[in-house]
Amino acid sequence: MKSKANFKGHPLHPILVSFPIAFLIGTLIFDVLGLVYDRNNFYTTAMYLEIAGIGFALLAAVPGIIDYIFVIPPKSSAKKRGATHGLINITMVIIFSVALLLRQKGDASFMIIIGLEIAGVILLSIAGWLGGTLVFRNQIGVDIRYAHAGKWKEEYINNADGEIDVASIDELKVNQMKLIHIKGKRIVVCRTEKGYAAFDDHCTHRGGSLAGGAMICGTVQCPWHGSQFDVHSGTVVAGPANKNISVYPVKETDKLVYLILS
Ligand code: FES
Repeated sequence: MKSKANFKGHPLHPILVSFPIAFLIGTLIFDVLGLVYDRNNFYTTAMYLEIAGIGFALLAAVPGIIDYIFVIPPKSSAKKRGATHGLINITMVIIFSVALLLRQKGDASFMIIIGLEIAGVILLSIAGWLGGTLVFRNQIGVDIRYAHAGKWKEEYINNADGEIDVASIDELKVNQMKLIHIKGKRIVVCRTEKGYAAFDDHCTHRGGSLAGGAMICGTVQCPWHGSQFDVHSGTVVAGPANKNISVYPVKETDKLVYLILS
């Protein structure tokens, strides 16, 4: 699914995390060098790297939180993974901040500071691993463009009931989808060779976003493990999912497409 915190379509979180990773690992390296060669300028470099690393970690957290809230599908395995990723990173930043504080007070054993930084780098690596899984397996922030899919389409609709205008009749091409956020639900409106259809944006296997998958010939494929569903009936075409998705009635007029919510 396309990132909400992006610059010209490029997700900002993966770009920004490179800085704290480099700076905080650099902190540990320069402190170890300072210890080995007993040179103050290595310690000074480590201190500045630590300040920059903590600052950039906080900055990188902003687009990360935005994508966690608005992009990772709710009630999914990726939501849990995203929460773990965030908590580990918060702990890591606290550990490096304590190390920085002790360094500036100057009354703690330097081995304690190095120990904290080693723990911080271990947590940083685990969080980075989980972040990689969120991108490379769960495709968070990935803007998928299969043939005829067109550009990513998403709309928030407030306070609507009954027949809700969700698209103009020619807004979507055949095989294109649009994600609608309405009344706390995520519903995908799509166009197939048979006309428009609407279904829940929630794969019944592990909660993958079907809007982030691919659709062809009236069948949508989940991007996480490949389950397929008929978009008109909601029935499972291929597993691992074994439960149908919910579908919603739609009405087409010569100008508009309506989603019917009871
Ligand atoms: S979440 Fe596993 S196939 Fe959709």
